Amino acid sequence: MITRRMLLKSTPALLLPPLCGALPGCGSGDGGCTPAAPVAGTQTPRGLHVSWTGDPRTTRTVSWFTDGNSDPGSVVEYGPVEDGMSACEIGSAPLPARVEGTSAATYGVEARTHRATMSGLDPAKAIRYRVGSAAGGWSDVRVLPPAPVEKFRFAHFGDHAMSDASRAVLRGMQKAAPDFVLIAGDLSYANGEQAVWDQYFDMLDPLASRIPLMTCPGNHEAKDGGGEGYRSRVAQPGKGTYYSFDCGKVHFCFSTGGSLLDGLDGAGELLAELAWLDADLADAARRRAAGEIDFIIFVQHYTIWTSCEGRDPANYTLVLLEEGMLLRHGVDILAVGHDHIYERSYPMGRAKRQDDGYVQVTQGGGGQSLYELIADRDEWSAVALLRHGFTVYSVDGDTITVKTYAVENEALEGLPEGTELPVIDEFTVTARKAEVRARFAAARPKAMADASFDHDAMIRHTIERNRRHDLAEAGLR
Ligand SMILES: [Fe+2]
Ligand SMILES: [Fe+2]
Repeated sequence: MITRRMLLKSTPALLLPPLCGALPGCGSGDGGCTPAAPVAGTQTPRGLHVSWTGDPRTTRTVSWFTDGNSDPGSVVEYGPVEDGMSACEIGSAPLPARVEGTSAATYGVEARTHRATMSGLDPAKAIRYRVGSAAGGWSDVRVLPPAPVEKFRFAHFGDHAMSDASRAVLRGMQKAAPDFVLIAGDLSYANGEQAVWDQYFDMLDPLASRIPLMTCPGNHEAKDGGGEGYRSRVAQPGKGTYYSFDCGKVHFCFSTGGSLLDGLDGAGELLAELAWLDADLADAARRRAAGEIDFIIFVQHYTIWTSCEGRDPANYTLVLLEEGMLLRHGVDILAVGHDHIYERSYPMGRAKRQDDGYVQVTQGGGGQSLYELIADRDEWSAVALLRHGFTVYSVDGDTITVKTYAVENEALEGLPEGTELPVIDEFTVTARKAEVRARFAAARPKAMADASFDHDAMIRHTIERNRRHDLAEAGLR
């Protein structure tokens, strides 16, 4: 059986010519195969990244870029990694399936974004694939892990950028080899310079072409054409900015947190999103009570509560509305960024510890410069640290074990191969008991029907919050 760790350990070598000599058994004992190298062309694929836009068990969507305005074609060739295949064969055996995707202009640069979805995949098998076209050229063969099922791991960070720490986080990912990665907004910090996105996806490519990447927009994504820079480059489910999916027995729900709202014209879309989130979480709570899933995880850029200096919830009305949903439907974990700190709460609600509340994990230490903590934290805050790093969640039956790793020393010094990153926080979240699940399942969506709530004020406050972020951050955060 080929494991995920084996694949991630072996596949970087597939990038390095001459390929054969670098791979175990290659050229001797396995038929002397010759791995397929990238095929350079007039528009060679770059910036590969993989996500789910369909069923995580049986599909993977690949996105990539080509330079120039003409469309050379958007083809993915793929097939399973069969038991017993040598690394050389993985990189060279014929790819039996082929799908033609689509392309569209990439926002703000002379390039095209290509997207194609592999389907009918065997959940138990790793996937090998390449992208490109006869006219433009081909990538080399990359390998994706099998589908995450009952027992899996995912990593979370936000506020990534392209610093030494950002790169150390990616190296940490490579080593941790999770089944997929969540980036909770503020990805590239292009801040209006669209070419920065190209550099960012070049940086991500070695990881994101081998581990699915699920994202939500943050306030910095709004700086690129109101989110068009982001939308035109990533492929996420639904409208691409808010969506949900199940992985094993965990339901993931992603929100924009209102990050892309820049005027009253967008009010309808945010209101529609909030209504959808409420309904989606209510349905997830129902399915959890029925035993179909065990956990609900909510992901967005913004914190609900924070111990970051000067960053108290900037929009109390949206926080009130959102937190009402999290508490009404019994969200288990809230994974966020935005504040460039690491903070983890106890189970909480309305800024107090609450047994049946949610655990907020603020992992804003993905690489951008760190902020400051307030001196006296409230009782809900279990841990708050100024550290760069990432958080890994291991899902196993009724328990999620969570570990947060710090990367500063690695970023500054480059630690020797095999050095373990320090764990700066560790905790577990246990699945709710049947009676608690039943209570949450009884709650119906009401966020948009609550006549006592001033939705117009919430929209105005969100526009104002986003405007103030723009002014205060001045392109730096
Ligand atoms: Fe940020
Ligand atoms: Fe942010």
